[in-house]
Amino acid sequence: MNSSLAGGSTRASRSAWVYSACVGAATAIVVACCAGSAANDAALEAVAAAQRDSRAVGSGGNLVEEGKRIFRDDTFGSEAFWGGQLALHRALAGSKKGGVGDGVSANQALKLGLKVDAERVPKAVADGIKSGTVDLDSADATLALLEAGAVVGVRGVFDGNHRLTSVGFTCALCHSTVDDSFAPGIGKRLDGWPNRDLNVGAIVASAPNLEPFTDMLQVDEATVKKVLNSWGPGKYDALLNLDGKGVRPDGKPAATLNPAAFGLAGVNQHTWTGSWGTVSYWNAYVANLQMHGKGNFYDARLDDAVKYPVAARNRLGHKHDDEDLITSKLPALHVYQLSLETPLPPEGAFDSEAASRGRTIFNTTAKCATCHVPPLFTEPGNNLHTAAEIGIDDFQSSRSPDGMYRTAPLRALWSTDKVHKGGFYHDGRFATLMDVVNHYNQHFKLNLSDAQQRDLVEYLKSL
Ligand code: HEC
Ligand code: HEC
Repeated sequence: MNSSLAGGSTRASRSAWVYSACVGAATAIVVACCAGSAANDAALEAVAAAQRDSRAVGSGGNLVEEGKRIFRDDTFGSEAFWGGQLALHRALAGSKKGGVGDGVSANQALKLGLKVDAERVPKAVADGIKSGTVDLDSADATLALLEAGAVVGVRGVFDGNHRLTSVGFTCALCHSTVDDSFAPGIGKRLDGWPNRDLNVGAIVASAPNLEPFTDMLQVDEATVKKVLNSWGPGKYDALLNLDGKGVRPDGKPAATLNPAAFGLAGVNQHTWTGSWGTVSYWNAYVANLQMHGKGNFYDARLDDAVKYPVAARNRLGHKHDDEDLITSKLPALHVYQLSLETPLPPEGAFDSEAASRGRTIFNTTAKCATCHVPPLFTEPGNNLHTAAEIGIDDFQSSRSPDGMYRTAPLRALWSTDKVHKGGFYHDGRFATLMDVVNHYNQHFKLNLSDAQQRDLVEYLKSL
């Protein structure tokens, strides 16, 4: 696959490996079961063909490519919710185009952190943007980009008269950004890079009908809007629909930073707190309960009415829609995410001599490698820790099934303008890597000198 699309300069070839390993395994099974009597060959082939058909996605095809398509463009039928129920498309279109209000201009959309895939911008529109004949301050420009499928993670549905009739979201909304090569916010896709500019709360809060949220959370519209607008850029709360906790005890929003969706192969627990399940669990969870796609989802842990009152009341752990547009896509989506590699630091991103001293400190004096085990930079095994172990509060960890934090796999720490924009740790509480190191220095009483701390930071920037 094109590694530049998978996230800048990457550690090449692992994606090819994932694909060939999967195909290889499938072939091995067929060969093994067909090795018996020749008379059974035809029957076995028929069974295998039927299985391939029922598996629907990726069978015999390229799971990575299929997963990429799903990740970028599949809404899982979520238009029925975002357009059908919330009427979000009407706010996007504006009253002149059959919607409500002024609509959202392309410049406003970019300010909300939405990104534009330059490769999908129609040539006439691209030329118009360059020459100034396409007015980025008009909602028409947004609609033209949407109709071309160029707004990353947002899929508009248009009728024969180019009217926007609905809208749905894809995974790329929060887990992709662009390289800004055409203009700020417009460029080549970087899949798996978190969008740390995206103000998803403000976008949802602008929907004409918030009743699905007021009904589910059993609070008034003003409260829903207040919570959504409190998140700010780069953050989202994927657990609000379970426990209804919109605010932390310290008054700050309960939302967490959008994490990277690359560098996850070999990592056991996922999400900031872990203990939900595999990447595939989380994909099913998000597609069903966050994106509001159509499908089946089961998790009896969500019946716990004390811990997850909203989920228990709404039986979110027992979702059975008439149509299932999610389950058949989970295999390819899983493989695609595991194929996304952590982008390497660009030339000059760190001081290599200092980094080499820092590496020794990381592995010895500072004890970082006891949890962040190279080269995964999280523990092989059950990579979870209590809040007390890492010296922070337990608000977010206590929202997860096991009440722990996951040892964040250290990925692309050099990228503070994109991947780690908004800070470090689940809520961005540490603005810089030096703040993180200071925290550990105090918490673990490491007695690192200033020079050692600086070297450690240079090493972190090399990861
Ligand atoms: C509205 C924004 C949003 C959308 C859309 C979204 N995610 Fe996420 N994703 C998040 C946030 C926020 C987290 C962290 C949640 C937590 O820790 O509680 C997350 C976590 C993850 C993780 C775990 C990353 C890690 O470091 O372990 C993966 C993998 C992931 N998402 C994949 C997906 C896929 C695949 C889709 C589409 C089916 C998707 N996400 C849709 C915001 C989003
Ligand atoms: C006891 C296990 C443990 C040790 C030891 C440890 N960490 Fe961590 N580290 C964690 C956990 C857990 C998190 C996730 C915290 C969160 O999500 O809020 C984390 C997060 C981080 C992050 C933020 C990553 C991100 O994506 O935001 C950095 C950077 C980091 N650690 C560096 C270090 C360094 C440097 C050391 C050594 C001085 C160290 N860690 C020692 C468990 C540990």
